[in-house]
Amino acid sequence: MTQDELKQKVAYAALKYVKDVPIIGVGTGSTVNHFINYLADIKADIEGAVSSSEGSTALLRKVGIPVFDLNAVGTIEVYVDGADEINPLKQLIKGGGGALTREKIIAAASKTFVCIADGSKCVDILGAFPLPVEVVPMARSFVAREMVKLGGQPVWRENFITDNHNHILDVHNLSIMEPIKLEQTINNITGVVAVGIFGMRPADVVLVSKGDEIVTL
Ligand code: A5P
Repeated sequence: MTQDELKQKVAYAALKYVKDVPIIGVGTGSTVNHFINYLADIKADIEGAVSSSEGSTALLRKVGIPVFDLNAVGTIEVYVDGADEINPLKQLIKGGGGALTREKIIAAASKTFVCIADGSKCVDILGAFPLPVEVVPMARSFVAREMVKLGGQPVWRENFITDNHNHILDVHNLSIMEPIKLEQTINNITGVVAVGIFGMRPADVVLVSKGDEIVTL
């Protein structure tokens, strides 16, 4: 099975978590794109979605699913999103697609966060995937120097602007032994909008496709 087929399979498995959920939180990425396509099949049963990116919003609208502003809907019952890395505590690195800030907001505002991924995303220790950090543009160099002090090697994701009109630093070479501590440390750096460690708000359920199997963590 190809990686994309594994993503498609795990996206389908998430459907059972959104039964009877009127407004679904929808993440960003290639795995979620498959999920959105499956949501289209049950669109008559849902009111709509809250979206974590302009990309997902466009796809949701294309398949005929209404998109609501988070401010208009309050608490979300279920949020479905992918991840770049997942540790055994269901803590994640996210933001490979640059949507980490809105993803964090929706995760925080959701009762249940269902993370969907193919098996290649599971790791023992977070950090082999370069850690995305969204920064206010004028703070980019300052935050980069702070990342070096933390032992990382920041790389500016050039020619990329987030949906919030900010920049992304991808921080290489971090071995994240204490995700919550590092998340708090980076959150406290002036100019940081969000860091892609989902440690304080991990996933509640992780669905992983491994071959023919869907493993639930
Ligand atoms: C988007 O910013 C990310 O957090 C994605 O959820 C993550 O990169 C997973 O993407 P794929 O589903 O494309 O692997």
